[in-house]
Amino acid sequence: MKYFTTVNDIADPMALVKEALKLKKQPYAFSELGKHKTLGLIFLNPSLRTRLSTQKAAMNLGMQVMVMNIDKEGWALELEDGAVMNGNTVEHIKDAAAVMGQYCDIIGIRCFPGLTDKKADYCEKILVQFMHHCKVPVISLESATLHPLQSLADLMTIEEKKKTAKPKVVLSWAPHIKALPQAVPNSFAEWMCKAGVEFVITHPAGYELCEDYTSKAKIIHTQEEALKGADFVYLKNWSSYHDYGKVLSPSENWMMTKSKMELTNNAHIMHCLPVRRNVEVSDELLDSPQSLILQQAENRIYAAQAVLKTMLEKIS
Ligand code: CP
Repeated sequence: MKYFTTVNDIADPMALVKEALKLKKQPYAFSELGKHKTLGLIFLNPSLRTRLSTQKAAMNLGMQVMVMNIDKEGWALELEDGAVMNGNTVEHIKDAAAVMGQYCDIIGIRCFPGLTDKKADYCEKILVQFMHHCKVPVISLESATLHPLQSLADLMTIEEKKKTAKPKVVLSWAPHIKALPQAVPNSFAEWMCKAGVEFVITHPAGYELCEDYTSKAKIIHTQEEALKGADFVYLKNWSSYHDYGKVLSPSENWMMTKSKMELTNNAHIMHCLPVRRNVEVSDELLDSPQSLILQQAENRIYAAQAVLKTMLEKIS
């Protein structure tokens, strides 16, 4: 595996889940594999879980880790090929990526969408240029359109908690005060469509996701209808894909509450975090025994470790 940017970069997603679950039982079994290898973590946007869990995963494998908040600590990056750089940008991404590729054996990069230019966001302008110029394996730490490390950890969590071979998993849109990317729901949909689960997405009209990721999902616009018999309910806000980056106001309240959850099969609650408490989901659900939010966050370590291990085995 040279790149980990989408579920399509892996031949067998369930095999990677099994590898991650094995590493969770024996985190230090491969602590020599990453000796004298360096992981660079490059952030253009904030992070708590992705930054710390990926760092921890690399340390478990014996790697050295360098972290750079390039948006704050680096030179202003130019993204346009052939640009006459007589404005505010100081360094071209092709030079920055090539240099960082000389310092690192594997690079992880986080680059959110601007949410104004759908075409630029969905062609992954920053990630693609970075991968092209750095010449080393690259892990997406959440790109403009996808968050595969999160989805791998989510699938691990479902695998650990499921009680039937084919559980019903519902992805439900949740309210938020800001316009958020579609990366987490796109990615969750992409992974669930390959996971052998019954997968349902529910959202208000106008919040349809890009069909590239949802073609195998059942879409139900009535939240209560979608929740019936669910085993897992994944809450997440996203901004409109079709009315790109806009926050539309649904007429009903889509916040997840205990009374709505009574329609489910005593379902587990999932959220990638950070969560806006009592806006997206009520406190009583997030703090209840049905909540898997901390287990998902813990599994981020072993998801990252499974990906790093696979890459290290290729380059060692
Ligand atoms: N879920 C997630 O990616 O969290 P961070 O944005 O804090 O990394």
